[in-house]
Amino acid sequence: MSVALASCLANATVMYHRVHGFHWNVVGTDFPQYHAKFEEIYNDVWESLDGLGENLRKVGVFAPFRLSDLAAIASVSDIPVADYDHTTLVTDLIAVNNGVLESLNSAFQIASNTGKQGIANFLAGRIEMHDKWAWQLQASLG
Ligand SMILES: [Fe+2]
Repeated sequence: MSVALASCLANATVMYHRVHGFHWNVVGTDFPQYHAKFEEIYNDVWESLDGLGENLRKVGVFAPFRLSDLAAIASVSDIPVADYDHTTLVTDLIAVNNGVLESLNSAFQIASNTGKQGIANFLAGRIEMHDKWAWQLQASLG
């Protein structure tokens, strides 16, 4: 459980930093809408980091917090972006969001199978939100 939760925390941390950077750097005629949508997403993901860390404490382990430790655990890509147009950034974010969803789904399965319903409920809520971001990001590509 703790390894799966740490993976969720690490992936969500990478996603948080990427989408906040996308909020700053996006360029193009649709700037206002992507600047705002990226802000909505980074606020949601930021708020989730606390719950992920606290759930690690509930299962009896210390939560990783050093960026280098989290980067070492993360499975989602954190490579430089090729451009700052919204298509490039949204496409990148869809892939990162899918990676977060994979780790959340794995952790949810473990929580459910081991009777940790509180953690499963928290993870289900996060899956719902990342499903929403997947839909909205994909829809914005047309
Ligand atoms: Fe801002």
